[in-house]
Amino acid sequence: MFSSSVAGVRLTLVASKNKFLLSEISKRAAHKLSTEDIIKREEKYGAHNYHPIPAAICKGEGVHVWDVEGKHYFDFLSAYSAVNQGHCHPKIVDALVQQAKTLPLISRAFYNDVLGEFEELACKMFGYDKMLAMNSGVEAAETACKLARKWAYMVKKVPDNQAKIIFADGNFWGRTLAAISASDDPERYEGFGPFMPGFERIPYNNIGALEKALQDPHVCAFMVEPIQGEAGIYVPDEGYLKKVRELCTKNNVLFIADEIQTGLCRTGKMLACDYENVRPDILILGKALSGGLYPVSAALADDKIMLCIRPGEHGSTYGGNPLAARVGIASLNVLVEEKLADNAAKMGELLRSELRKLPSDIISTVRGKGLLNAIVVTSKFDAWDICLRLKDNGLLAKPTHGDIIRLGPPLVINKEQILECVEIIKKTINSLK
Ligand SMILES: Cc1ncc(COP(=O)(O)O)c(C=O)c1O
Repeated sequence: MFSSSVAGVRLTLVASKNKFLLSEISKRAAHKLSTEDIIKREEKYGAHNYHPIPAAICKGEGVHVWDVEGKHYFDFLSAYSAVNQGHCHPKIVDALVQQAKTLPLISRAFYNDVLGEFEELACKMFGYDKMLAMNSGVEAAETACKLARKWAYMVKKVPDNQAKIIFADGNFWGRTLAAISASDDPERYEGFGPFMPGFERIPYNNIGALEKALQDPHVCAFMVEPIQGEAGIYVPDEGYLKKVRELCTKNNVLFIADEIQTGLCRTGKMLACDYENVRPDILILGKALSGGLYPVSAALADDKIMLCIRPGEHGSTYGGNPLAARVGIASLNVLVEEKLADNAAKMGELLRSELRKLPSDIISTVRGKGLLNAIVVTSKFDAWDICLRLKDNGLLAKPTHGDIIRLGPPLVINKEQILECVEIIKKTINSLK
């Protein structure tokens, strides 16, 4: 009796403290916080697992974003290529709002009336028998690995628990323990062991190494990005993907293409694999599959692979929910209707040709395809400092690996905007002299 009344008082106290906290936080939200306040609060209450450029963004539209002080910027990161369709695309927002009011989530314990439509559209668009919907990119990539292992045991007849998946040096497919087990970047894996067995690596863009690795009969898959994004926009030699396809077919190994960053028009084609007319056995998509509105990802494959996974063997509470499916359908439609692949190809050419005019003692290399591009900064200069100056001049970009700056605006950018952004970049680079 006594202890239950003490517990009751404690619960009442906790409830009133929470109520007070909520009203304090919303009072503060009502009067605008400065960039500095926002940074300080995140520093205090948020985990320190990112090192953001100090701009606090509160609004986006197309290629434009604004910070809490109302300063305008061009977004040249596009949330790591998730916002290919531009910020707040009205058709995708509309799809999200309508579905949110109707039925956002029911779980895969039941059918819903939208998932099949999304699956049919994606299968027909990309030419596969089936799609498996997940949420984040890393989940789609992990799905591909699980599919490959199941296929290894059920179809290829690899002895139990001995399947191997080959990855390329410099790969990046997310932050889970499986993903970092495939990584060769100490910043990603150090201090997080032990790691996933059955993962091996070979150099990227090296056909000889692949040929050798695939001799091992326990190898079931080679997972590769058609252009390495996080590694710093490394474009492999022409013909690499074709050769990968040939070798995987010859050795009865699945070719998994991680098009989470390169796919969905980013590189100037619907898929980067389309440049070499190759069809991977498993295609993984994410990021722009939702136009930046909601985490939506997927693995696509034919029945002989996809049906190796049976009910109960894989899934996700949110994967394939009606909200995600509606957003996915709208996002794919926008890419096609607005011919964003063509625009990315044209604007990318223009951007690179202008960037190549930058002084070579500061920018040593310009590389990329479509609107997935990078500039490499010479050792005399600091990419972080350049990104801070770009921010001050109204353009948001982020360095990777210390000396590389990725330049990937939303694909809805037009010629005038590209030229305006080139002027900002030129002015910034010239200010270093
Ligand atoms: C090629 C590639 N694969 C997978 C991922 C992981 O996606 P997510 O961060 O949505 O898990 C990324 C993220 O940057 C990526 O670039």
